[in-house]
Amino acid sequence: MEYWNSYWNDNNKDTCLGNVSDLGMSDLYSFWKKAVSSFSEQVNVKYKVECLDIACGNGVASKQVSRFMPQQAIDFTGIDRANVEFVLDNQKHDVKIFSGEKFNSFFKLPRKFDLVVSNFGIEYLSLEETERLLTEHLHSKATLIFNIHDESSIVSKSSIEEIQAVNAFLNDERLKCLEKYLVSHFQTETAKQYLTRLSEINDENEQRIAGCGISDFVVREFVQCQKDKRTFCSFSNIRKTYNDYISRLGDQISSAKKAKELLTLLAEIDFQEHSSEAIKTSSGELISVFKVFINKRNFSHTQT
Ligand SMILES: C[S@@+](CC[C@H](N)C(=O)[O-])C[C@H]1O[C@@H](n2cnc3c(N)ncnc32)[C@H](O)[C@@H]1O
Repeated sequence: MEYWNSYWNDNNKDTCLGNVSDLGMSDLYSFWKKAVSSFSEQVNVKYKVECLDIACGNGVASKQVSRFMPQQAIDFTGIDRANVEFVLDNQKHDVKIFSGEKFNSFFKLPRKFDLVVSNFGIEYLSLEETERLLTEHLHSKATLIFNIHDESSIVSKSSIEEIQAVNAFLNDERLKCLEKYLVSHFQTETAKQYLTRLSEINDENEQRIAGCGISDFVVREFVQCQKDKRTFCSFSNIRKTYNDYISRLGDQISSAKKAKELLTLLAEIDFQEHSSEAIKTSSGELISVFKVFINKRNFSHTQT
């Protein structure tokens, strides 16, 4: 195992830490704390809050609400197009998830929410879905708390560069040619040539090949090949993984573009921006925007 790892590392001293390495997470948590605590102050502790987490993934946003409203009974509903799941470590907090195939069924439910949260999520939905959610599924005095992508953020910039790097790997003719040999005839010398070319592509792309894990993936395959004493190795898994990866990065870039339209939509359906904070890296680059919205309509709060 060490052989291929040290081969790669000896030839690549400056491996990158990943997409964005110095995230200002402490800012993000303090914004969640402030926003959730402020919502909490307006709610009677005896009332059961209905909270919707849009594109919930593993529940990052719900976990912040749960953390900063520990005494409040809350029914959390998470929705996500992918198959996801999460639990909350508080007996007062129930979680129901509509993910994967169940995602669409959520829209047919007569459910209304007091609090809608989303961490890098709502901007992934179509504007039609978002409009439906925010016009049909909210109590009149609902609060919205979103941490959303921004087109000019370091995340979007870094995603564009990462797509270029991954494409440089996927489309490199020399690697494709070496793979042809390695899939039928694994030889140490050819594997070394492969890693050398990979290293060149890594250098040409600001170490992003190592940063997004391609080199580790390849090294693991070579190690496994030697361990199993196989005469062939396979690249199909690696190629599939990184084709999926660039498709996800593409979604992320599109979602950042959609975020602008989302803000217009919110204004059109009577949501007023209550606060807006920029989440930045320690070196001052924009990561995302953290926004709280309230509904302008001043109806009395209806409980279901
Ligand atoms: C960047 S992740 C964020 C997940 C989670 N909110 C978090 O903070 O970890 C984006 C999420 O949006 C979901 N997603 C992407 N496109 C979607 C769509 N069209 N409808 C619903 N969910 C979607 C993905 O499955 C993923 O869980």
